[in-house]
Amino acid sequence: MKDILGQALLDYQNGNYTEDIITSTNISDEDILPIPYLFREFKDMPKLEQKALKLVKGHVLDVGCGAGGHSLYLQNKGIIVKSIDISEGAISVCNTRGVNHAEVASILDITEQFDTILLLMNGTGIFEKLSYVTKYLSHLKSLLKPKGQILIDSSDIQYMYEDEDGGLWIDTNANYYGELDYYMSYKGVKETPLTWLYLDFETLKNACLTVGLNCENVQEGEHFDYLAKLTLNE
Ligand SMILES: C[S@@+](CC[C@H](N)C(=O)[O-])C[C@H]1O[C@@H](n2cnc3c(N)ncnc32)[C@H](O)[C@@H]1O
Repeated sequence: MKDILGQALLDYQNGNYTEDIITSTNISDEDILPIPYLFREFKDMPKLEQKALKLVKGHVLDVGCGAGGHSLYLQNKGIIVKSIDISEGAISVCNTRGVNHAEVASILDITEQFDTILLLMNGTGIFEKLSYVTKYLSHLKSLLKPKGQILIDSSDIQYMYEDEDGGLWIDTNANYYGELDYYMSYKGVKETPLTWLYLDFETLKNACLTVGLNCENVQEGEHFDYLAKLTLNE
């Protein structure tokens, strides 16, 4: 990983913001990921993220914290948050912004237990592939304290496969339709391609059943997105 996301966050933090990250996927053309969006404050967050932050309780793990906006909001409310990201640049930005417990780590390296685990801005993305979902969910489950919760958002991206007549062109022999090859470039540097998973609610719910987690659809967003709350079976 070249950590171009981290570089873009560092540039923005250091006053060197001149351009955004360009993204594309195997099913969509180039798009822009605006760097200021990664520094959004509570009032500018999508309703689903605001809802997730309101549901937080106890000791929190913010997974894939990015520039640390969610962590900072919670920290300012007196909540203790551990913030992790695989991007060194992101964690450096978190440290500069005053995020108290930010660490370069992958979710799979964490062993401590928490009351709330947050995965926001397509939280299922870090699961990468449908075939890895139960591995990640089992691990996340092992990090929950009794009565703990996982708050995670995602989208059903079936709409991206619709043609003008409303027909779907999903290839049923291919991988799950939410499993995308994701490309990013910044200031002319191309990131190593990643696999980024969008998961529809029913598929997430079925995977949760397999690993013994309850899965509740807490809120629907404005565009096929949702916030789910996962809890331990009593
Ligand atoms: C879409 S960004 C979201 C950032 C932040 N949560 C937000 O809402 O602004 C996803 C983040 O997850 C991080 N990430 C990807 N895989 C991860 C993993 N296995 N463990 C921890 N963080 C990961 C990426 O480096 C990136 O910063």
